[in-house]
Amino acid sequence: RKRIVSGVQPTGSIHLGNYLGAIKNWIELQNSYDTLFFIVDLHAITLPYETQQLAKSTRDTAAIYLACGVDTSKGDENVSVSLLTYPVLMASDILLYQSDFVPVGEDQKQHLELTRELAERVNYLYGGRKWKKLGGRGGAIFKVPEPLIPPAGARVMSLTDGLSKMSKSSPSDQSRINLLDSKDVIANKIKRCKTDSSTGLEFDNPDRPECNNLLSIYQLVSGKTKEEVAKECQDMSWGSFKPLITDALIDHLHPIQVRYEEIMSDSAYLDGVLAEGAARATEIADATLNNVYQAMGFLRR
Ligand code: TYM
Repeated sequence: RKRIVSGVQPTGSIHLGNYLGAIKNWIELQNSYDTLFFIVDLHAITLPYETQQLAKSTRDTAAIYLACGVDTSKGDENVSVSLLTYPVLMASDILLYQSDFVPVGEDQKQHLELTRELAERVNYLYGGRKWKKLGGRGGAIFKVPEPLIPPAGARVMSLTDGLSKMSKSSPSDQSRINLLDSKDVIANKIKRCKTDSSTGLEFDNPDRPECNNLLSIYQLVSGKTKEEVAKECQDMSWGSFKPLITDALIDHLHPIQVRYEEIMSDSAYLDGVLAEGAARATEIADATLNNVYQAMGFLRR
């Protein structure tokens, strides 16, 4: 079974971009792969932070994964979904776990390029001839992973500027939909979001980035195809579209929010998931590290 790994930083609140660009795809992929989904807390300390807040955000993020449908209860021995709380940096996150694919948004593409280069270099330097003869398999120390970037949702844009990315770090909360935003907050953000003065809504018009972004979001949360949305909205005014996308967002996020509250009120369950995930991840990481030490000529610790 091929493996996928991915993660989100526990900084700020998880928003629609994180969800549509990454988490939603994990859920769609998880039945077909062996999976490791982590909360990359070590990445979150590269900027000044408060220790108490980091621990809280890490647990919150875990609860959001579960609320979105990350599945930890699969009985099949080949399938295991894990959450891990003591991460290392991105390339090592990926390479340690011998991942085949990494489902992420477009902004992570260059990090994946670096990860691939590092893996290839280590394999070339330390993997030996055997690895080369086998065309990159068998004797390789690290798997060379590929990004899996979704056809829609890979770059969700800000609600207040269709040319910049929706982001956790933007000071304006109006610019993003957070997964835990209440109905009223969502309705208000959509009411105030940036649009344009044309009538009739369309995808892929470079002069109408806000229009493309809102249609894409609507497509993803409503579960419709791009063609269906293009047809449904081609003659629509913003005045009729806004209630439509608002309802679709609320309907999509409501069950996630209900589940989040349930999970947060059961701390034993949440801590259990984290501990099991960490144990499973450690096992895979130890095997890789042992290989690396051996291949590089270090004595076994
Ligand atoms: P982070 O925490 O910034 O974002 C988590 C995931 O959300 C995606 N994303 C978006 N997708 C679409 N539109 C957006 N506006 C948007 N904003 C964020 C990101 O592409 C990402 O998939 N370095 C990573 C975390 C990381 C990681 C890893 C990921 C650390 N180690 C190993 C995969 C594998 C980061 O900062 O993501």
